[in-house]
Parts: sequence; structure tokens; C-alpha cells
Amino acid sequence: TEYDLIIVNGLVVSDTETQEWDIAVKDEKIKKVLPRGGFHEVNATRIIDAEGGYVMPGGVDAHVHLQEPPLFGQGSTADNYETGSRSAVCGGTTTMVTFAPQKKSEDSLLDTLAATHARAKDNCYIDYSFHLLVGNPSERALSEFKTLREKGISSLKIYMTYEALQLHDGQILDVLLEARKQGITTMIHAENNHVINWMTAQLEKRQLFAPKYHGPSHPPVAEIEAIYRAISLSEFMDTPILIVHVSTPQAAAHIKSAQARGLPIFAETCPQYLFLTKKHLDGPGFEGAKCVCSPPPRESESDCDAIWTGLKDGTFTILSSDHCPFRYDDAETGKKSSVTEDFPLGKFKFVPNGCPGIETRLPLTLSAARLPLTKFVQVTSTNPARLYGLYPTKGALFEGMSDADINIWYPEGKMEEFELTNDMLHHDVDYTPFEGRMINQWPRWTILRGKVVWDREGGGLLGQKGYGRFVKREASSLAKPLREDEWELPL
Ligand code: URP
Ligand code: ZN
Ligand code: ZN
Ligand code: ZN
Repeated sequence: TEYDLIIVNGLVVSDTETQEWDIAVKDEKIKKVLPRGGFHEVNATRIIDAEGGYVMPGGVDAHVHLQEPPLFGQGSTADNYETGSRSAVCGGTTTMVTFAPQKKSEDSLLDTLAATHARAKDNCYIDYSFHLLVGNPSERALSEFKTLREKGISSLKIYMTYEALQLHDGQILDVLLEARKQGITTMIHAENNHVINWMTAQLEKRQLFAPKYHGPSHPPVAEIEAIYRAISLSEFMDTPILIVHVSTPQAAAHIKSAQARGLPIFAETCPQYLFLTKKHLDGPGFEGAKCVCSPPPRESESDCDAIWTGLKDGTFTILSSDHCPFRYDDAETGKKSSVTEDFPLGKFKFVPNGCPGIETRLPLTLSAARLPLTKFVQVTSTNPARLYGLYPTKGALFEGMSDADINIWYPEGKMEEFELTNDMLHHDVDYTPFEGRMINQWPRWTILRGKVVWDREGGGLLGQKGYGRFVKREASSLAKPLREDEWELPL
């Protein structure tokens, strides 16, 4: 037959427009796109009738932690490449960029990359790449940036906090300079570690240990100051950066004003900061631990509103999950990390930071119906693909160019509203911070390189582990230095 698959009667949403188009797929690619009815006389192996539902490029989740050593608290990550990518595909994410973590004690980033490849290989349900997480910017590590680029890695992440990972400002400049030379985009976790440690000591002195004190231990000032510093270092070095998981309106304002000055400053936010506030950290007993992430959920709904506004007005380029899967009850002992007889509510400083969310990112956000559809596609698919050098293979539905990675959603009003519970999800984590939220959208079909890998009403997960493959990435098509010449020491 002429095509492997034709999708008819959909409302095709791109990052710029919504159209009544039909899409034909052949050999893993988008082969042809025609106005509705255009494939009427054409034969195909399979036809899917979208019945007026939205048809969007598959989700690209560019902030995912899988199978990392315990770097953010006690406990190791629950999801491996298999279970994490399985969860992803069941929520409409067809490409993920996970972290390849280099510890401070390690020298070579190429070794880190090889070890991470080994964890992912033959295990993934979806396509994937890695950001190198640079814990030790040694001379050797810096000299390897060039080879990383040749191996298809065009981004890295550094931390301004966490003892196990934190770089000081001089090391950050080393990384930014080399990243600039090699066309690598640097992601920065911007929080001031000294402020966090000082606040933690103050709280413990007052015998305040419960999970809810994770909030005050990471006050907005820690994020605001560090983001301002990160912007300043980026401007000094004329090197683009992406500030990850921004939670604070005042920090967003710094980002916005830097962008208004034309600086290549990009920012990310996550569903946690759209849907959770400090009251979620204040559950009964140890429950609040389920919402411990850094930065923490903030004060009130008006903080969430400001983050939604930042997504709408473009301050935030991307919406990622920051899927960081730790178990609530330990899988072996059944115990909660850090809960003891002496500390029945645990100790917030030992609760591993991070929440699971790779499967819920798209359905939760679309169900909230607070973004124009094109903006939803921008921040969850097209922009992450552009920012990290995957576009237009990923993040778009262009004839002849894009992989046939497609989500088909339910027609508006067709899906009955339901309550999200963790037992619907496909990760290996024993909770979701979004338990009990009402949802009215979910991908009905998800297609990865032409194959139906998720069919909500026809067996659920149909994809296979190992079908997902490593995608070599180009330089970012969004993040570029302002000046083209080499950086010169200002004298
Ligand atoms: O709390 C968080 N976000 N944990 C994951 C690690 C990180 O900093 O991204
Ligand atoms: Zn981070
Ligand atoms: Zn984080
Ligand atoms: Zn993270």
C-alpha cells in the first residue's frame, strides 16, 4: 500500500496554528499532509479516525532523571530506563532527554556517557538522548566537550546547589566558556546552597523537622539570587543558558527582563509549580514528603498563576516534568526514608528531592485548559525540540522531515472527567503528587515513528522496550551567543 498509516478527521495543532488536516505516514516519517478528506481515495495499511480530536506532535520531555545515583537525598531512583520510558509513552511523551550524571569523584564525561548509554540501550520504549550532568569540570572533562558534540550531545546541566554536585562560580565560568566554543547549551539548577544550609540549620535548631519545612528551607531568595547570578555569568560570558525548574514569580521577572534586553536566557518550568503550593507539603504525617522537590512548591495560588502567565507570555520556553522518581515507602524495607522512632515525621533534609511526573505532564496540563493549544504544543514539544537540537525531526509534523511521532487526543467533551490516581500510572513509583486531581484529557493513541505504541481503548501500552532509540542531536536552533566571534577576555 501507499502509506502505512493515515490519520483522518483530526484537528492538527502545531506550535502556530490549528488546521483540519489529514496526515499520511510512511517508513516512520510524516509523508504527506493534506486538507481534510485529501486521502479519500488512497489506500493505507491502517486508518485512524481522530473523530475531531486534536492531533499533535508527540511530547518531548527534556528534564528526566532515571537510574541516577542518590545525589539529592536518601534513597535511589525508582524508575530505570525501562519503567521510566514506559510511563512516558503511556502519557504521550515520545522523546525524552535524561541526565547522564558525572559524579564529583569522576574525571571523564565520555565514560559517563558510555555508562549511561549502557543503561538505556535496548531498554527504552521511546526515543531518547542525554544531557551530560557535569559534577566535575576538570580539564579533562572540559576537553571532552568537543567529542560530546560529535557524539550528538549538545547540552549539559550544572548545579549551583547540592554538596554532591555544586559548582562554584569560577567553575561555572569554565563550563560556560567551553560550552560557548562547542555550541553546547548549558542548563543551570539555580539555588543558593548557603542560604539553604543556613535556613536548614535555623529550622533544626528549633526542632522543626517535618516534610513541610522543606519549603522554608528553600526560600524564594535562594532561587531569586542564584537565578540573577546565573543570568549575570551568562551575560558576562555571552553564553546561552536555560534555567531549569523555575518556581518563583520574582525570579521569572529577572528572566523576563534579561530576555527583554536581548540576552539568550531561556527558562523552564514544571507542572509542580503550576499545580502545587505549600499546602501540599503540609500533608498528614509524612505525606508531605510526596511533594518535596527543589525548588519547593511556593506560597499560594497566585504564585502558580504567575508561572502560568510566564508560560503564556514566553518567559518560559519549555514545560518539562523534572521526573525524579523516588519511592515513598522503600521497596525492600517498606519504610519511609528518614522516619524513625525519634523522628516520626522524618527529617525534611533527608527526603530525596523530586517528584515523578513523566506520564502526567501532558494530560494534566492540557486538562487544565489554561494555555492556548498552540502554546501547549510549543512548550511541551516544539520548543524543547528546538532548544535541544532535535527539531524538526521531533516537535513538528512536517512532510518528509519529521518523525511520525503523534498524539491523538479525545475530541473536546468526549472524555468523561475522572480522578487521577497512582494506580493508573505506569511508573515504578508508589505515589503521584497529583493524586486525586480531575482530568478530562488523555492521549487516545500515541504513535512513535509510525507505530501505534499506546492505544488507550485497545490494549493500552502496545509499544515495546527497545523500540526507542538514541537520537543524535544538533546544536540548539534557539540558544545562541549574541556575538559570533570568539569570547575575548574583557581588558
Ligand atoms: O527536586 C528536584 N528537582 N530534584 C531533582 C533534581 C534536580 O535538581 O533536578
Ligand atoms: Zn535541578
Ligand atoms: Zn530539580
Ligand atoms: Zn531535575
